[in-house]
Amino acid sequence: MDSSTHLTESDHVAGQYASTDNLRTRRDVWRPGPEGVSPVDVLRTLVVSSQPRRVIEIGCGTGAFARSVLDEAPDVDYVATDLSPAMVEATRALGVTAEVASSDILPFGDGSCDAAVAAWMLYHVPDLDGTLREVRRVLRDGGTLYVATNGREHLAGLLREAGGDALVTQFMSENAAEVLGRHFEHVVQRDVETRATFADHATASAYLATFSPDLAASLPHFEGPRTYAGHTAVLSAR
Ligand SMILES: C[S@@+](CC[C@H](N)C(=O)[O-])C[C@H]1O[C@@H](n2cnc3c(N)ncnc32)[C@H](O)[C@@H]1O
Repeated sequence: MDSSTHLTESDHVAGQYASTDNLRTRRDVWRPGPEGVSPVDVLRTLVVSSQPRRVIEIGCGTGAFARSVLDEAPDVDYVATDLSPAMVEATRALGVTAEVASSDILPFGDGSCDAAVAAWMLYHVPDLDGTLREVRRVLRDGGTLYVATNGREHLAGLLREAGGDALVTQFMSENAAEVLGRHFEHVVQRDVETRATFADHATASAYLATFSPDLAASLPHFEGPRTYAGHTAVLSAR
């Protein structure tokens, strides 16, 4: 499989996130790994404990992360953005302020935010350095970007069983700190192992079908549930 080549193609990304279905199907299988923590919880703890006044999020998806931050810290001025109108609509339905925006042209003033969040989206942006420059522009001096992404071996067990390869992207655990270091002085990374449990073959195949119908079709049949390791990283950069 060479899914990595079209991960940043705008037509592919727009199609992938034209509705919230693919994202919801993938999200539901993930559970904490050996450490007992999920990367989403690690990310939220970092954001909330920094006590920001104004937070922006890029590539907010369904808005679940934004909602969870606001549930813990209701006084935060949080504005979520996403390229996909369907994602923005889903986010607004959770009571979160949200706007359609491309991550490289953000509708915020210079130095206007204390924190920015980019969770599992920087591997999609066509101009990664352009997006990071834009995030840098809207952050105040000393403001922090909080990021989550996957590593090269993320779910590779399932991908290989289906005849594919591990997914190499432009922004993964293995190069994320170096990429962020081009724009920020202080970068801290925590790797978090997770677990994906599929109730049966059909569930695993449906997961694969959200990004590769070919892999979904070639996954050999198996009986019963299966669990695979996921490899993620949570980073802060300021
Ligand atoms: C893998 S999903 C992650 C969503 C959410 N952050 C989460 O963790 O569930 C990637 C999201 O980034 C959005 N996206 C992709 N490219 C984008 C861009 N250039 N600017 C803004 N959003 C983008 C997609 O529409 C999608 O909602």
